[in-house]
Amino acid sequence: MKKTILVTGGAGFIGSNFVYLLLDKRPEYRVVCVDALTYAANIHTLNKAMESPNFVFYKEDIRNREGIFKIFEIEKPDIVVNFAAESHVDRSIENPGIFLETNILGTQVMMDACRKYGVERFHQVGTDEVYGDLPIDRPDLFFHEDTPIHTSSPYSTSKAAADLLALAYYRTYGLPVTISRCSNNYGPYQFPEKLIPLMINNARHDKKLPVYGEGLNVRDWLYVEDHCEAILLILENGRVGEVYNIGGHNEKANIEIVKIILSELGKPESLITYVTDRKGHDQRYAIDPSKIHAELGWLPKTMFKDGIKLTIKWYLEHTDWMDEVTSGAYLEYYDKMYGNR
Ligand code: NAD
Ligand code: DAU
Repeated sequence: MKKTILVTGGAGFIGSNFVYLLLDKRPEYRVVCVDALTYAANIHTLNKAMESPNFVFYKEDIRNREGIFKIFEIEKPDIVVNFAAESHVDRSIENPGIFLETNILGTQVMMDACRKYGVERFHQVGTDEVYGDLPIDRPDLFFHEDTPIHTSSPYSTSKAAADLLALAYYRTYGLPVTISRCSNNYGPYQFPEKLIPLMINNARHDKKLPVYGEGLNVRDWLYVEDHCEAILLILENGRVGEVYNIGGHNEKANIEIVKIILSELGKPESLITYVTDRKGHDQRYAIDPSKIHAELGWLPKTMFKDGIKLTIKWYLEHTDWMDEVTSGAYLEYYDKMYGNR
């Protein structure tokens, strides 16, 4: 009999890439996707998935206990992977409340449903931002799984709270939980409020590229498919109650990324504009992935030099997708965030 895997947030960036990985590599799973379709989602991202007999979609909010329990009653998932979240740091600085509601209380609802109906595994998709930041001038330092939680933004704080709650459900109720904490992802279907797609979109329209501060903050970039494969490995071979860091030792300063994008698109660096820094801006993220490598044999497959080319090509070939998600409310958001910056 097929196993049923319930994926929340599957109409967003990483969740949709995970859905496609499952449909492609695990035909033995039925995939049930639950997504509230917030501004960050695009239902058309799932058009191809909708054609598969192995895929079911529910528009539902993970904060809605009754609705979520009903889906569990109907679908009886064996495995639950919780991607659904408010995910953008800048928005969390403007409006923290929804981050606490979705990221903490929504996770609680998902885990309560798992307890009530029984699952083999609840996987919480976490972030390296829970470790706070590292100094730029200490390239010898990395985030390990036992690095203390030390958050900076309302977003990372809400994600840290969700991780701690998941570990509490494991210890207190014996819920079979695993947690992954990944570094910055890039690739297809990322909403253009995040650095890479925002810069690609602006560059293609010859619009200014807004770099925060001096552009020297460092992020550790991982191609989204590598992240999805790591999660699948954790689901299938990871140890319950454990946290796994995911990252590929690919640190880059923001300004380097922006210049790569301009160069790939054949656009001038004069499009770069330095704008007021993000409040509480984390300096550097850098993951030590040795645990997932040693225990599960995971290594990233896509080198940044190839992944960034693939990513730019994807956005240029999917301008309809980009135009759709950047119309309407996006224009208001852009004006509010960057208008007077
Ligand atoms: P995203 O913002 O692109 O997608 C989030 C999805 O969750 C959207 O489809 C949205 O509609 C859905 N959603 C939001 N609130 C919901 C709710 N209340 N109920 C149901 N669905 C809801 O996010 P992403 O970048 O794909 O991130 C997915 C997960 O991975 C998040 O938990 C995030 O914290 C984590 N993460 C992201 C990165 C990254 O670089 N993007 C890195 C590490 C971890
Ligand atoms: O590390 C994992 C995290 O990575 C995830 O948990 C988050 O969900 C995800 O959004 C991402 O967070 P960041 O804040 O690192 O990503 P963002 O793309 O927003 O910004 C990356 C860097 O680029 C950061 O230093 C801020 C800078 N930046 C961003 C934007 C949107 C700019 O300089 N200009 C911009 O316009």
